[in-house]
Amino acid sequence: MKFRAIKGVQDILPPDVYVWQEVESAARQVFAPFGYKEIRTPVMEFTEVFTRSIGETTDIVEKEMYTFNDRAGRSITLRPEGTAPVVRAYVENHLYRLPSPQKYYYIGPMFRYERPQRGRFRQFHQIGVEAFGEDDPRMDAEVLDMLRRFLERVGVEDLGFEINSIGCDACRPAYREAMVDFLSGRVDTLCTDCRRRYEVNPLRVLDCKAKGCSAMKEEAPRIIDYLCSDCRGHFEALRGHLESLGIPYRVNPGMVRGLDYYTRTTFEVTTESLGAQSAVAAGGRYDRLVEEFGGPAVPGIGFAIGMERLTMLIRDRHGVEEPAPSVYLAVIGADAEAAAYKLASEMRGSGIWAELDYSGASLRSQFKRADRLRAAYVFILGEDELARGAVRYKRLSDGLQGEIDMDDAVRFLSSQ
Ligand code: HAM
Repeated sequence: MKFRAIKGVQDILPPDVYVWQEVESAARQVFAPFGYKEIRTPVMEFTEVFTRSIGETTDIVEKEMYTFNDRAGRSITLRPEGTAPVVRAYVENHLYRLPSPQKYYYIGPMFRYERPQRGRFRQFHQIGVEAFGEDDPRMDAEVLDMLRRFLERVGVEDLGFEINSIGCDACRPAYREAMVDFLSGRVDTLCTDCRRRYEVNPLRVLDCKAKGCSAMKEEAPRIIDYLCSDCRGHFEALRGHLESLGIPYRVNPGMVRGLDYYTRTTFEVTTESLGAQSAVAAGGRYDRLVEEFGGPAVPGIGFAIGMERLTMLIRDRHGVEEPAPSVYLAVIGADAEAAAYKLASEMRGSGIWAELDYSGASLRSQFKRADRLRAAYVFILGEDELARGAVRYKRLSDGLQGEIDMDDAVRFLSSQ
């Protein structure tokens, strides 16, 4: 029988996995001094966790969720994103009782039934962060600063930041009215989804990829022109803080994001080099969500980085550096084989990557294998060396040869 992975779901194999590990460890290192702690939430939740927060009329909820009934008939969904689960955990575990702000990060798989293409998968991975308890625009700039520093650390610092403000409950009604006015004369050009949802949620039209819908983006009323004075002040202050931190950005009034929970600041980090799937990271503020989940009125802000897209960029630009063994133990004869077997165990116990094989192959083919593995050194152990308690070595990068005491082998390699 021949099995294949599910469409849009992929294995992450070496050497690519080394890029993933580097990205993950960079995230942990960059986030720690900003006070972020790791949180791990389940990959599945009750479906309402997502429908209530992401929004009933979003593409994610309408078309993209992996939802099923469990054996007891409860509706369960594989998480399409990480914010809603973290807010659920924050409220359920009363994390708002801890000193504010509370800052969390997560790394893990997300699931969306989208049409797979370059940079778009059905199982994909995010590194996300969520900060609770601070609505000051300095927090927004701090979050963007952390994202910039992370991108710098992984070598893609030239990506563009786009920011926008999509207002709050106070500014939305006037904007909604203006949009409905604008759209009602153009209903014919809207896609069937948007025809259905524009009155309830006109922002969705601006986020729609269908031709007719995206064509009217340019002329549509812009939410940024309808901000209340508090939201305008918040946005202006954010811009000032970004400038003082030296973070380049562009205001993109058309960017509204595909999730309903956002208020005020939204942002995206985009690149030209990924084709249609240009957003490498995205996020925003969600000041009402904790309350909607039954918690106190605690504001929040966060972002998520798409790991497939980010690692693709890093690979394209910098290649992949695959680690290689420190030493290959080439042996001649049964006694040397036994000694090398023990020596390898000792080396590995000391953290030295040692390779050898059990095939009894010729010295020549052992050298070939060492070469293919890109070992830094070959240690040669034959009857003569064994009698002297020594090993001969050859450094493969430049052919340098020599001999050391067998007892010194670990120290020798550790000092390289
Ligand atoms: P999002 O914009 O839906 O936001 O996703 C964030 C990032 O995840 C995208 O910019 C993209 O890099 C990646 N991504 C999304 N869908 C796919 C896919 N099908 N295949 C590959 N990569 C994908 C959120 O998920 C929010 N929870 C972000 C956030 C956190 N907002 C506040 N806090």
